[in-house]
Amino acid sequence: MTRDLPDYVCACGRSSVPSAGRWRCDCGGTLDLAPVPLAWNPRAGDHSLWRYRDAIAVPGRELSLGEGMTPLVDAALDGEPGVRLKLEYASPTGSFKDRGAVMLVALARLLGADRLVADSSGNAGTAVAAYAARAGVPAEIFVPAGTSEKKLHQIRGHGARVTVVEGTREDTARAAAGHVERTGAFYASHVYNPYFYEGTKTYAFELFEQLGGRVPDTVVLPAGNGTLVIGAHLGFAALREAGLSGRVPRIVAVQAERCAPVAAAFAAGRAEVAPVAAGPTVAEGIAIAAPARGARILAAVRDTGGAVVTVSEQEVAGSHAALAARGLWVEPTAAVAYAAVRRLRAEGSPYAEGEVVAPLCGSGLKASL
Ligand SMILES: Cc1ncc(COP(=O)(O)O)c(C=O)c1O
Ligand SMILES: [Zn+2]
Repeated sequence: MTRDLPDYVCACGRSSVPSAGRWRCDCGGTLDLAPVPLAWNPRAGDHSLWRYRDAIAVPGRELSLGEGMTPLVDAALDGEPGVRLKLEYASPTGSFKDRGAVMLVALARLLGADRLVADSSGNAGTAVAAYAARAGVPAEIFVPAGTSEKKLHQIRGHGARVTVVEGTREDTARAAAGHVERTGAFYASHVYNPYFYEGTKTYAFELFEQLGGRVPDTVVLPAGNGTLVIGAHLGFAALREAGLSGRVPRIVAVQAERCAPVAAAFAAGRAEVAPVAAGPTVAEGIAIAAPARGARILAAVRDTGGAVVTVSEQEVAGSHAALAARGLWVEPTAAVAYAAVRRLRAEGSPYAEGEVVAPLCGSGLKASL
């Protein structure tokens, strides 16, 4: 069943065969797909991320709710020329997680999984639940206590079972992984499964096409577990290696001041991310105290000459209001990247020079301040 799929690889040197039960390396490390040369052949008639099907590792038969190809709009705020916003909240389930969730569920189906499990701060779980419903695979989603009611309602609406874990986001991940080990269910983890990043790669490909075959100077991206940072970096690096773009954009990863383990490691010049004791933040979607791919996030940022910055609760709230005042209704977490753009511009930072693009990752219909 898995003969069409390449082996997973790990930084320790081991490789492993994809199967429903395989979600990390025997060493405990994260799994990747070995890079392959980019086959750049966007399918002109396809207005979903599947237009890039030749440029990504496709896990099995396609599945689609029309994900990808999100609008790119001018922020068009006085004094903010060059800032563009990519409306990821226009995705089928209201967040960019659809890009990766569709890959995970397609993979689960290929591997013959009869059940899948995911853990999430809300949006990834919502996306996995929707695609599982679409594929007819039962799903169980683990979420931390305090997850927005609207997200829980959406997950249940798609027919998935919700397990609320009293504890942190990390406790929730442990509960999901334990359940997977006990039951043999497929772990549709947006953090661990490398196919998720095949999906988020398409963020870079779309930007490249939407800008007429070039990349912006800087992309500002939220970072919790870093699924968009890592995916976008893979996509931009592939375009660079294929000679389609002479450079990659600088990646500025943004964390909430109250939960900023990657920013701390970046500032200290470290290659690994140490867990932090996090405080409460309105940016619930990026409150990840111990990101499993933290070192990979740092490597992506450094490869591009970028940075990791933090924003305060007040800056997130101010940006949320500024976006709303311009017709853009996002959840608080989705205001984080834009908050960083505003600050970088106010500071006259070199990261704000030239063409800057930030995503608005999640819909305001999901959670509010
Ligand atoms: C709206 C929103 N933005 C950003 C993120 C951050 O994604 P990641 O944790 O993969 O960095 C999330 C994750 O759930 C999210 O829901
Ligand atoms: Zn390993």
